[in-house]
Amino acid sequence: MVSLTINGKTFQIPEDSTILEGAEMHGINIPTLCHDRRLVAHGACRMCVVEVEGAKSLMAACTTPVSDGMIIRTHSQRVVNARKDILELIWSNHPNDCLTCEKSGECKLQEYCYEYDIKGEDGYEGEIRDIPLDDSNEFYYNDQRKCILCGKCVRICGELQCTGAIGFSARGFKTHVTHPFEEGMNHSTCVSCGNCVSACPVGALMPKGKEKFRNWETEKIRTTCSYCGVGCQIDLVVKDNKVVRVDPAHGPSNGGLLCVKGKFGFGFIGHPDRLKTPLIKKDGIFIEATWDEAYELIKSKVGEIKGNYGPNAFAALSSARCTSEENYLMQKLFRAVIGTNNVDHCARL
Ligand code: FES
Repeated sequence: MVSLTINGKTFQIPEDSTILEGAEMHGINIPTLCHDRRLVAHGACRMCVVEVEGAKSLMAACTTPVSDGMIIRTHSQRVVNARKDILELIWSNHPNDCLTCEKSGECKLQEYCYEYDIKGEDGYEGEIRDIPLDDSNEFYYNDQRKCILCGKCVRICGELQCTGAIGFSARGFKTHVTHPFEEGMNHSTCVSCGNCVSACPVGALMPKGKEKFRNWETEKIRTTCSYCGVGCQIDLVVKDNKVVRVDPAHGPSNGGLLCVKGKFGFGFIGHPDRLKTPLIKKDGIFIEATWDEAYELIKSKVGEIKGNYGPNAFAALSSARCTSEENYLMQKLFRAVIGTNNVDHCARL
């Protein structure tokens, strides 16, 4: 442990921490744009700069390790002025379209511009980059005019998803993130997991949702992805009782990542073709039935088959799309009620 003074208060902090980690441990908020605790610190945006007593320049809190006796100021006038300058620079070539931008209300740049009172009047004249909207991916838009070059998407793709499908192109003001679909789908190693989209702090990478919504109109409901047995935790973003987006949650098995199905494949939830009642086949045609009718039919058929052929005439195939509890009940029903051990899982169908 080392002793650190932040904004006049002294804390004990593990010696292998960065200033940012130390501050977060004690509930001290330092703004960040390029930081993600799952990734190797990048030090690109400089929003996290702090004043360290004795150091000539401001230090990036996300990359600076703590040392014993450090005296740090996270919100001195000098620090605030530096952050304002950074935001003014980013804003100077950012499309000023918060009124219609789908990210409005959950955009980090918008949030910090509000917090630091940025009005775009400080004399930086940047040109909005002339990069056309790329909509060639099936699941997301890539609007590089809005990219702030935090590099989260590139690093998530390389470090966590381990695909390395996207990267930086060009130099200086022309720098942008190249997504493989600009070159055509056949040239891409991208698996459309959407982890880059989930990590983007601004409106540069946005899902191709079919619903229009603002984040303040929605609620988030934490649940488990139903596609396979990994148990990824997800937040269903719901507006008016309809799922409009899925966000990855930081569950123990997925750590804020998802695959393409979990991230984008939620259309089935509210699809009009979903069954709402049981169906019973009569004269070769499925007819809607009540649950009482369906259970009666199942009961009589099970009794008939068991009477004629014995319990081993049955087999149960359950599914990774069910919860563990549902799978447990399925095997219990077949072993204890029907009397067979013919129980298996869809993975071995
Ligand atoms: Fe530290 Fe971006 S958060 S440099």
